[in-house]
Amino acid sequence: AIEQKVTALLQQMTLEEKVGQLNQYSGRELTGPASNRKNDLLNSIRSGQVGSMLNVKGVKDTREIQAEALKSRLKIPLLFSLDVIHGYKTVFPVPLAEAASWDMAAIRLSAHVAAKEAAASGIHWTFAPMVDVGRDPRWGRVMEGAGEDTYLGSQIAKARVLGFQGEKLGGTDAVMACAKHFAAYGAAIAGRDYNAVDMSQQQLWETYLPPFKAAADAGAATFMNSFNTLNGTPATASSYLQRDILKGQWKYQGFVVSDWGSIGEMVPWGYAQNLADAAQKAIAAGSDMDMESDAYHQNLAHLVKDGKVDVAQVDEAVRRILRKKFELGLFDDPYKFSDAKREKKVLNDPQNRVAARQMAQKSMVLLKNENNALPLGKQLRKIALIGPLSKAKRDLGGSWTVLADTTEIVSIYDGLTKRAGKNTQVLYAKGCDVEGNSRQGFAAAVEAAKQADVVVLTVGETWDMTGEAKSRADIHLPGVQEELFNALKATGKPVVAVMLAGRPLIFNNIADRAEAILYAWWPGSEGGNALADVLYGDYNPAGKLPSSFPRAVGQIPVAYTQYSTGRPVTMPGQIKYKSAYIDVPNTPRYAFGYGLSYTTFRYSDLKLSSPTMTAAESIQVQFTLTNTGNVAGEEVTQLYLHDPIASTVRPLKELKDFQKVMLKPGESKTITFTIDKEKLAFYNQKLEWVAEPGDFNLMLGSASDDIRLEGKFTLLP
Ligand code: IFM
Repeated sequence: AIEQKVTALLQQMTLEEKVGQLNQYSGRELTGPASNRKNDLLNSIRSGQVGSMLNVKGVKDTREIQAEALKSRLKIPLLFSLDVIHGYKTVFPVPLAEAASWDMAAIRLSAHVAAKEAAASGIHWTFAPMVDVGRDPRWGRVMEGAGEDTYLGSQIAKARVLGFQGEKLGGTDAVMACAKHFAAYGAAIAGRDYNAVDMSQQQLWETYLPPFKAAADAGAATFMNSFNTLNGTPATASSYLQRDILKGQWKYQGFVVSDWGSIGEMVPWGYAQNLADAAQKAIAAGSDMDMESDAYHQNLAHLVKDGKVDVAQVDEAVRRILRKKFELGLFDDPYKFSDAKREKKVLNDPQNRVAARQMAQKSMVLLKNENNALPLGKQLRKIALIGPLSKAKRDLGGSWTVLADTTEIVSIYDGLTKRAGKNTQVLYAKGCDVEGNSRQGFAAAVEAAKQADVVVLTVGETWDMTGEAKSRADIHLPGVQEELFNALKATGKPVVAVMLAGRPLIFNNIADRAEAILYAWWPGSEGGNALADVLYGDYNPAGKLPSSFPRAVGQIPVAYTQYSTGRPVTMPGQIKYKSAYIDVPNTPRYAFGYGLSYTTFRYSDLKLSSPTMTAAESIQVQFTLTNTGNVAGEEVTQLYLHDPIASTVRPLKELKDFQKVMLKPGESKTITFTIDKEKLAFYNQKLEWVAEPGDFNLMLGSASDDIRLEGKFTLLP
C-alpha cells in the first residue's frame, strides 16, 4: 500500500518538488536571530525545496519548522535528522567503549534509550551507527565505531540498528538508523581524516563490507556514503558501491544520504569539473540525498531538462525517501514525534541514567592489576585522587554530545567521594593539564599522594582530541601526564591509573609501572559513578578490548588479524631477516580481546562433535569454563579459526564467535559453539565466497593472544 501512495504522490510532483525531496540543509540558523540565511531557509522549506533538515531539534523547534513545510503545495513533511551517536540527553559511553562490553543486549539498549529520547524530542533519524572497521588509532573517528574486528563489528552493527529502530519503523520510541560511512572510510591512508583509501577487493569484501551488510540485513533505513575515495573514485560517486553492491546485490530498499558536502568535494578531489558535474555524477552513482552541498538543488532540474540526467534516476531517489516518510507515519501525523508532554517525561526518565551507568560499567577494561591493587579496600582511610580529568565533566562525555547537558555528567571526583563515604577522605590535586608543559601542580599532587594509602590517577585526552577531524600522528598520552605519574610513583604509594580517552593510546611507562590500570574510555553521564562501582568492586569488570593497543605508532596497523608471512617471527633462529622490527616486538601492547577480571577463569575439556565435516554439516565445539576465583564474574570466551593452507594467504587468526558468560565463584558451565561452512569461508582470488576443503585450526581463549584450548578439524570435499 505504501508503494501505491508513493507512486500517487510522485505523479503529482513537479521536477522542482522532486529535487526538493533530495535536498538536506543544516538548520542551526532557523532557531537563531533573524538573518538572510534564516529567511532563505524558511522560503525554501515553504516552497517545497527541502526534504530534510539536520540539526533542528526539540519539540518546539521541530513543530515550528514542520509547520512551515506544511505550507508547501504538496504538504510533504520534513525529516528531522541529527547525529545521535551515543545518547541524546543522557550520554552513554562513546561507541568504541560500548564495543568493549561485547554485550549485544546492553548495546542495543543504549541505542534504544538514545532513540527514545531523540524521538521524544522531534527527531526522526539519527546518523548512526558508524559501522566502519577502524584499525588505525591515529584516525580520530575510531571512537565512533566498534573497533578493528569485522565479526564483532557486524554483531554490534545489528544490535545498534535494532536498538535505534526497533523491529519496524513507525514507533514513537524509535528513529531511523543510518549505517555509515559507505564505504571503507576507516581505512583512510595514514589515519588522516578525509583522506583517500586504496585497498584490495578481498580486503573490502572480507573486512570492511560485512558490518554494512549486517546493518542492511537488520533493516537500517538509510545509509550514508563517505568522504573518502575508494581506489580512485569518491565513494559519493561510486556506482559500484551504491548501485552494484548496496542497491543491486543486497537489494537495499532504503535511501543513501551523502556526507556533509561530499558531493561538492568531488571538485577539490579533481573528480568533477564543477558542482553541476558533481551532481550529475552523484545521482548517477545512487546518492539519493544531498547533505549541504546544494549541488542537487542548484543543478538537478537543469541537468534533467538538458537531457544530462535521466528523470528516472531522480524519481528513484525520491521514491526511496518518500517511502521512509510514509513508513514513519509522517503523512498521517507530521507532528507525531513532537509531543511536549512525552518529551518532558522521556528526557527526565531516571531509568535512562540507570542504563547509562550499567553500560559504562560494562565498557571499562581492566588492563593490569598487580598485588590485587583493585578493588579498593573498604578500609582505606585516604585516597589521593590526582590528575587533570578528576573533576572533568564535559571531557567524560566525549564528542558528539548534541543535546546533553554536560554539567549533569557525574565527575570522577563526585562519584568516588560519594562511594568512599565518610570514613575515607578523598584528597584531590590536579597535578597538570592534559596538554602543555607546566609541572607547577606536581608538588601538591606528590604531597597528597604521600598522605594517602593509594593514588588514583586520572589521565588521558580531552573530549575534543578524538573524533571527526581529530586525527593525531602521535597517540602517546599527551603533555606531561606520564611525568606526573613518575613523580607519584616515586612516593612509593600504589598507583591505580584510570585512562580516559576515545581511542587506544600509547602509555608504555604507565603500562610497565602502575599497579593497576583501568581503561575507562569516555564513559558518559554516569562515568564517575560507574568508575567508583568498578574501583570498589561493586561491579566486577568484564570489558575486553575491541582494538589492539600499539606499543609504538610505527606498528600501526597492528590489528590481530595479521597474515602469515614467508619469514614468520616465530621461526627458530635469530631475529634477523624475519618479518620483524629491530626496535619493538611485533605484538601490540594490549591485544584485541584482552581484559582482566577480579576473578580468574579456567578453560578445560575441549570436545569436538566430530573431527570432520562436509560443507553441508557443522561441528559442535564444547568446553568447560570455570570461575576459579573468589568473586562472581563474567568472561567473554572467544572462538578463533585459522585456515593454514588455502588458495589465498589467510590471517593467522580470525574471530568467528564469542559468548559472554556469568559464573559464580567455583561454578562451571559447558559452552558450545557451532562451526558451519560460513565460518570457514573467505573471498578467493575470483571474489567467490568459498570454504576450501582441508584442515582448520581452532583456538578458544580469553583474548586473541591468550588462547587456552586448541584443536583441529577437517572440511571434507
Ligand atoms: O553524520 C556526520 C558524519 O558522520 C560526518 N560529517 C557530518 C555528518 C552530519 O553531521
